[in-house]
Amino acid sequence: MTAIIFTYNHDERHEYRSPQRKEQSHDHKSSSPHYRRLHRHRRSYAERFARRGHDLVLVARDVARLEAMAGPLRQETRVAIDIIQADLTQPADLAKVETRLRDDARIGILVNNAGTAIGGTFVEQSIDDMTRLVALNTTALLRLASAIAPRLAKSGEGAIINIGSVVGLAPEFGMTVYGATKAFVLFLSQGLSLELGPKGVYVQAVLPATTRTEIWGHVGADVNALSNVMEVNDLVDAALVGFDRREPVTIPPLPDAGQWEAFDSARKAMLANFGNALPAERYRTVA
Ligand SMILES: NC(=O)c1ccc[n+]([C@@H]2O[C@H](COP(=O)([O-])OP(=O)(O)OC[C@H]3O[C@@H](n4cnc5c(N)ncnc54)[C@H](OP(=O)(O)O)[C@@H]3O)[C@@H](O)[C@H]2O)c1
Repeated sequence: MTAIIFTYNHDERHEYRSPQRKEQSHDHKSSSPHYRRLHRHRRSYAERFARRGHDLVLVARDVARLEAMAGPLRQETRVAIDIIQADLTQPADLAKVETRLRDDARIGILVNNAGTAIGGTFVEQSIDDMTRLVALNTTALLRLASAIAPRLAKSGEGAIINIGSVVGLAPEFGMTVYGATKAFVLFLSQGLSLELGPKGVYVQAVLPATTRTEIWGHVGADVNALSNVMEVNDLVDAALVGFDRREPVTIPPLPDAGQWEAFDSARKAMLANFGNALPAERYRTVA
């Protein structure tokens, strides 16, 4: 799930365009090509967006795998697929991708998908592993969003999809540092949605639960031994339903959306009660 960057497709029916820009639809054949850059769950995102008519830019460390996926997809969809090799924990590689995001005006949508996890408890994990995890799951995601957001805000259109996790809502799941990075992704996405939404830029946070990918191997777990494992295609299809509905937060595994709404409403109900000069009664000590 690495960054996917593309701009509007040339098939009106699927094209994401902020309402006020509908009148400016253009014929893709004559104007500049549209690009999309992609990290993982990437196969599904790549296939779906290519089939929606988006050109793609695929980004990850393993270029051979990207090429293996891009070849058949180019043939099938006739879209342009560009590949960039980058380790997003390496400043020089990250800067290269940021520059492309900042400068390539054809890129209109970013899917911040690259991420990983580490096994063990907090006291067992090495600080170097935790630091690398934070660098990929939060710093890289933040820098990629920061690279593209000003240009999208100026153009009044575009979208950013950030892949978080339900773990970001659940310290009880025991993936403390990973969960903290995903809590960051959710908060950042909600904040960007409030800041960029009025400027015509859509920001979506996607919160998957257990999904059948290689990430479980990185934490030393056998995904086949886990229960309630969602298939990647189902996850991405559901996330795209949320995308097409312009949901700020999409939680594909959650059966009752009312639970999220109640949670978010309860959070918002507290906000007005934070502004107090005196501590709450329960914290006042009798002198
Ligand atoms: N699978 C789940 O159960 C689950 C649940 C909730 C959230 N998520 C989130 O979904 C996203 C995708 O993860 P996944 O499950 O698809 O895991 P995955 O199978 O391990 O894929 C991770 C993707 O990120 C890329 N990547 C990893 N490290 C990178 C680096 N340093 N630089 C550039 N690209 C890098 C990988 O490509 P290369 O190895 O080629 O670089 C790959 O495309 C992550 O943000 C993850 O936290 C997954």
